Amino acid sequence: MNERQIPDDEPGEHIRLDLSAVPHVLLLLDQRVLPRVVATIRCSNAHEAARAIRDMVVRGAPAIGITAAYGFALDVLAGGDRQRAAEVLLASRPTAVNLRWAIERMLPVPTERLLDEAVAIHREDVAINRAIGAHGLRLVERLGLDRGVRLYTHCNAGALATGGYGTAVGVIRAAHEAGRLERVMAGETRPYLQGARLTAWECETSGIPCTLVTDSMAAAAMAEGRVDAVVVGADRVAANGDVANKIGTYGLAVLAKHHGLPFWVAVPESTLDPRCPTGADIPIEERAADEVRGYGELRWAADVDVWNPAFDVTPAALVDAWITESGLWSPS
Ligand code: MRU
Repeated sequence: MNERQIPDDEPGEHIRLDLSAVPHVLLLLDQRVLPRVVATIRCSNAHEAARAIRDMVVRGAPAIGITAAYGFALDVLAGGDRQRAAEVLLASRPTAVNLRWAIERMLPVPTERLLDEAVAIHREDVAINRAIGAHGLRLVERLGLDRGVRLYTHCNAGALATGGYGTAVGVIRAAHEAGRLERVMAGETRPYLQGARLTAWECETSGIPCTLVTDSMAAAAMAEGRVDAVVVGADRVAANGDVANKIGTYGLAVLAKHHGLPFWVAVPESTLDPRCPTGADIPIEERAADEVRGYGELRWAADVDVWNPAFDVTPAALVDAWITESGLWSPS
């Protein structure tokens, strides 16, 4: 296991500009091969940034938006057409609305300020995540536990999925920093294993006590009283509060309701989509069958049809609180 520490208070090293290269290039930590291999992918235009997003080199809603902003800036600075760069990036993945949010913010910016704007989006995201963490800590404190909280999380809504620090993992980090976290339970997140590969690694490198479980163990963990609350991120929140997040999130919300556990969604406001009336209007990405048939080069499934939606929609009625940089929002 490598010892690389993910900085949690600076724009993460997983997305960075190489300013020594002329023209500048975007360096992305390749999240497809973490945690066993630490490799970097270089992008110098919108096409390369879009490919990195589509191929999951970089993933997680805010990180996708930040990458798109850098890709847009580099493309236009190299003489590319703004509308074309925007189209290429917008077509890379459909569900995370942060992509559209970032491109719409970049489009009117004068060319000479584009890189500064992308850096601003990146830096702001880290500050936003710290604010989300602080608000989430209030929810932890409201539980009134006389011991550390045991939080369950799904997928990776951590430093790697954002500019740094994380949203759901930001709440976990804030609780840990305040001495209020006993342990986080991370679901492995089949089929792409963001929980096992990325969240578990972030916890390991940040010294956060973490127990890894397969997704099918969540119900038993809750029934045995091993979980106090569930906290997840989101790719898009509709105007009615419905939440699109990694496949399996909806099931966790149902389980949390059944066991009387709070279910919290930690999101930057760039993930809120007032133009999307309900969860039914959120486009859900469907991914390759081979992701379910096996992993990497390995195949273990029999040769039958596969359905592989990357996200599901959790109805707002199952959410106890939305945690944004502005504060805490309840169903009322
Ligand atoms: O397919 P992914 O890995 O991009 O999915 C990521 C998630 O579902 C995250 O939970 C979400 O983007 C929130 S990241 C702060």
